Amino acid sequence: MKSILVTGGAGFIGCNFVRLTLRNYPDVRVTVYDKLTYAGRLENLANVDEQFGARYGFVQGDICDAALVEETVARNEIDTIVNFAAETHVDRSILDPDEFIQTDVFGTYALLEAARKFGNLRFHQISTDEVYGHIEGQRHSAESDSLAPRSPYSASKASADLFATAYHTTYGLPVTISRGANNVGPYQYPEKVVPLFITNALNNLPLPVFGDGQQMRDYQYVTDHCEAVRLILQRGQIGEAYNIGTGREMTNLAMVEILLDELGKPRSLIRHVEDRQGHDRRYSLDVSKMLALGWEPEYTPEEAIRATVRWYRENEWWWQAIRSGEFQAYYDRVYGNRKTLNPLG
Ligand code: NAD
Ligand code: TYD
Repeated sequence: MKSILVTGGAGFIGCNFVRLTLRNYPDVRVTVYDKLTYAGRLENLANVDEQFGARYGFVQGDICDAALVEETVARNEIDTIVNFAAETHVDRSILDPDEFIQTDVFGTYALLEAARKFGNLRFHQISTDEVYGHIEGQRHSAESDSLAPRSPYSASKASADLFATAYHTTYGLPVTISRGANNVGPYQYPEKVVPLFITNALNNLPLPVFGDGQQMRDYQYVTDHCEAVRLILQRGQIGEAYNIGTGREMTNLAMVEILLDELGKPRSLIRHVEDRQGHDRRYSLDVSKMLALGWEPEYTPEEAIRATVRWYRENEWWWQAIRSGEFQAYYDRVYGNRKTLNPLG
């Protein structure tokens, strides 16, 4: 039986990865290692324990805590580390970069060290398309492109990629990296644009579109991303990076229109507000390397957004609890004094 340490497994993508792995791979044991920050929630893993019993374990801890990481690896006879743990939201990284450097850079280093100490464990680093920076014209980012991050978040993630690659080169650590496009789907904290806009719209609140809304993103469904990571663990070439996305991007305004249509809510909820500092206008991935590995996304971006809307509509218990807590203080900080660009809406 394989024994995987899934760091950040109580977060959005991590919890979907845990469920998918336990459901589809009976020969795998999963140990979630998570600090339970504002974004990590045990509710995201509700029922996993009852459903999968002995094949599942949970440890609350910080990836920067080398001693606890090592103890967890030893106790659970871990052979593979998949590192989802990170501070992940660009707007929070603009307000307070410190935690991003701690977790995303130092934390990844601590995990790489643990993998090395235990005889070079298999290591997969979950990265992001944001490490390529914003992409001009019709170009697409290939894995061999140089990294050009522009926000504190993406700079931290890019640093982690470089450390992971350096550990492969220097120590022969069996590392792979995946760089995913924007994920949408169940259990995404409503600070990210799609769940923020869905939950705002369900509460009949305005949707704060940054700037002109012409920025381009590739919205992929989270389970497609998770399946791609599974495939890389099975068949990926050691030392390589893989882009994961649908390869089709759309403007933020197009995303908003799909979401409002699926909800049956009016376009008058759209508010253009002051843009994000250093906002990357376009990400676009060349995903041919992942397709060549035998993976194909099941959802188009439009289907992914519509399926996400349905999940939030049906799971108010999950997001209403979040929106009444820490979230509100964050929301006031980011949006409270933000200028509206079209006050008449
Ligand atoms: P998330 O913010 O929903 O969850 C992050 C998880 O990491 C939480 O459970 C949190 O408690 C945990 N965590 C944070 N700091 C920790 C620490 N120091 N020690 C242990 N656990 C810690 O994030 P997500 O959206 O699920 O993203 C997961 C990974 O995927 C991240 O590495 C992110 O950079 C990457 N990624 C995300 C997207 C996206 O669209 N969300 C796209 C591409 C890549
Ligand atoms: P986000 O979900 O924060 O992801 P990314 O990491 O790609 O920035 O934002 C996705 C896009 O939506 C991005 O172009 C910024 C934009 N956006 C808004 O227009 N308004 C918002 O309130 C947020 C959070 C994001």
